[in-house]
Amino acid sequence: MESVMREMLTGIGGYERCVTEFIRVSSTVLPPKVFHRLCPELKNDGRTASGTPVYVQLLGSDPALMAANAKIVAQLGAPGIDLNFGCPAKTVNKSRGGATLLKTPELIFDICKAVRNATPVETPVTAKVRLGFDDDSQFSEITDYAIRSGIDELTVHARTKTQAYRPPAHWSRLKPVTRKYAIPIIANGEIWTPSDLATCREQSGCDAFMLARGALCRPDLGRAVKAHTENIAVTPMTWPEITELLIYFFEANGARYGRKYAINPLKQWLVYLQYCYPQAAALFAQVKRIRDPDDMLCVLLRSTHKLTTSKAA
Ligand SMILES: Cc1cc2nc3c(=O)[nH]c(=O)nc-3n(C[C@H](O)[C@H](O)[C@H](O)COP(=O)(O)O)c2cc1C
Repeated sequence: MESVMREMLTGIGGYERCVTEFIRVSSTVLPPKVFHRLCPELKNDGRTASGTPVYVQLLGSDPALMAANAKIVAQLGAPGIDLNFGCPAKTVNKSRGGATLLKTPELIFDICKAVRNATPVETPVTAKVRLGFDDDSQFSEITDYAIRSGIDELTVHARTKTQAYRPPAHWSRLKPVTRKYAIPIIANGEIWTPSDLATCREQSGCDAFMLARGALCRPDLGRAVKAHTENIAVTPMTWPEITELLIYFFEANGARYGRKYAINPLKQWLVYLQYCYPQAAALFAQVKRIRDPDDMLCVLLRSTHKLTTSKAA
């Protein structure tokens, strides 16, 4: 998740932590500007505007190089470092990063240990894995190697690399791990509603959860699951509130990356929002061919009834 989305979602509430998109470590120690670009929160003590810590996620397969990069990230003040062993992307896996490392748990150990040793003890080092590559037969070995390295927490996307993003997520595979180890195990995959989270809690034995696509489909999902867990009633966000967020998202991305680069992220977000808000499908149909930022803003403003003419002021 990128920084504007992190800022918005944590502002709505319910999140205790965010993780950046992965930063690929392939052959060099990256300059600080790369980390600042992908994690602008480093300028704010590593926190979003509403105060949620943002861990910087690294992806790579060379223990020494990962450690050297992690050291810089820690020096830049990141509240934590997360290591990615779950990305299924072909380009990433070809260069021996992401999910392909699930085939060599001992290399996961080496990377985690090198990063742990290179960073101050007060900087948490966490890792994210899947159940395995082609199948889940090595899952207990993967978790064992990862945890024995001394990491502070482990997130498990409860599917294999081959299962990609296909439902279901196999939450019950996490139960032996939550029973066996003292560090927090964070369950991830297919949590779309507060009741999914309750089922995941029951089946996985986990007390911490990572939300991904669900949070894009329903921006108040973090707040909703927290309220559900605490037995508090909370009103779901309405479509007019969502349209305000869409305008904010568009304008903030435009200010950060350039206006024309704000168009595609907005379209992509509308695709996710359709799952919870049928109005998003209608809005997507209106904007899908738009290439001009002024036209996009005009349609967005019209959708909030703030603009009734055909051009933005
Ligand atoms: C478009 C997209 C980008 C993602 N990028 C990352 C990433 O950079 N790092 C990461 O660990 N996981 C990444 N993921 C995986 C999610 O973090 C998560 O593990 C996965 O979507 C399963 O959770 P969900 O079913 O709640 O979406 C990405 C997923 C999607 C769909």
